[in-house]
Amino acid sequence: MMHNKFNADAEIRKHWLLREDIHFLNHGSFGATPRAVLEVQQAWQQRMEMQPVSFFVRDLPELIRDAVAKLADFLGANAEHLAFVENATSAINAILRAYPWQAGDEILLSEHAYPAVKNAAYFVAKQFKLSVKEYAVPFPLQNPVEITASFERAIATKTKLAIIDHISSPLAIIYPLDDMLQLCRQHRIHSLVDGAHVPGMLPLQLLDIDADYYVGNCHKWLFAPKGCAFLWASPAVSENLQPLVVSLRMDEGFPRCFDWTGTRDVSAWLTISAAIDFYQQMGGQDIPQQLHHFAIEMATMLTDAWNVEIPAGVEQFGAMFTLPVPWAKTITQIEANDWRDRLWKSEQIEVPFLAINERLWVRISAQLYNTKHDYERLAEAVLKVIDQ
Ligand SMILES: Cc1ncc(COP(=O)(O)O)c(C=O)c1O
Repeated sequence: MMHNKFNADAEIRKHWLLREDIHFLNHGSFGATPRAVLEVQQAWQQRMEMQPVSFFVRDLPELIRDAVAKLADFLGANAEHLAFVENATSAINAILRAYPWQAGDEILLSEHAYPAVKNAAYFVAKQFKLSVKEYAVPFPLQNPVEITASFERAIATKTKLAIIDHISSPLAIIYPLDDMLQLCRQHRIHSLVDGAHVPGMLPLQLLDIDADYYVGNCHKWLFAPKGCAFLWASPAVSENLQPLVVSLRMDEGFPRCFDWTGTRDVSAWLTISAAIDFYQQMGGQDIPQQLHHFAIEMATMLTDAWNVEIPAGVEQFGAMFTLPVPWAKTITQIEANDWRDRLWKSEQIEVPFLAINERLWVRISAQLYNTKHDYERLAEAVLKVIDQ
């Protein structure tokens, strides 16, 4: 096995609070925040309580903008185009609510878009008399061109905004973003890229991406505390943007109107600098490749053990792989959730199972704290359930 520099080292896991007796193969859903980062967050919370008025009134506006500047630097973006939000869901809701819709407009998204994102799209569609179209994404995927072709076929004259997954949540596939964004420009459609999984998992330089809106979570793969995410918007579309909770700084416009949404604990945002520092200490720009290679090895080991195929070229994945489970029966998501809970209860393996096209799949994540043993346990546990 080609060891990544960390998975050979059991000490690495001590950087996280994760229980030692569990096999945590679902970094993708909520991330896992390192101890060092949480300590910095707690220090921010204490500072807030030492003189709350000074903290919120005198210090916070600048502290937030300093934190945005640090994130902007990491993302290759202009800080004036960037705002913190709590999570990708709230960023997407804010964009959809503020967009200058006209009745009859259409929102385009993938059939595999994250369910909360779909709900938000259907909700505004009802409110503003819009339609929503879902384009198909074949899985297994022979060639990423299949995604671009399906996306292009779905574009209509009434399409106004396309929501494009950068990395699909259920499929773990990296979409051909540049080609899809080029199609948006050609067809004069606004693009909203859902990059919930991207910061920290893939190299990301926002100035190189020709999107209108890009949202990303820092609490998944960039090691930030929960509640740390961003909304990037190009100046051409940011004029009407407001956070979901319109508040005191409304008149300042984007991005500063997002810096205050009522009194709340924004220590997760202020901790971005510590999260980026931790990321850099652990390997920085080498991490995406390192995790990708580790994930390929583990996906190969699992598919060999189960006698199944990886459902797309390995270059279509990052640090997550969605793999077929050799279970012959058709399956619902409720039954797939039973698999998830069963492996957790009987083997302390935390990994999501998915019903895609009525077949059973499992999505593995590879993070610095994982070892080969975690995936070997998964390989055995799945075969054990099948044999029962
Ligand atoms: C593609 C995608 N979009 C949006 C989200 C929502 O992220 P959050 O719960 O942080 O808002 C997720 C969460 O996994 C996701 O995978």
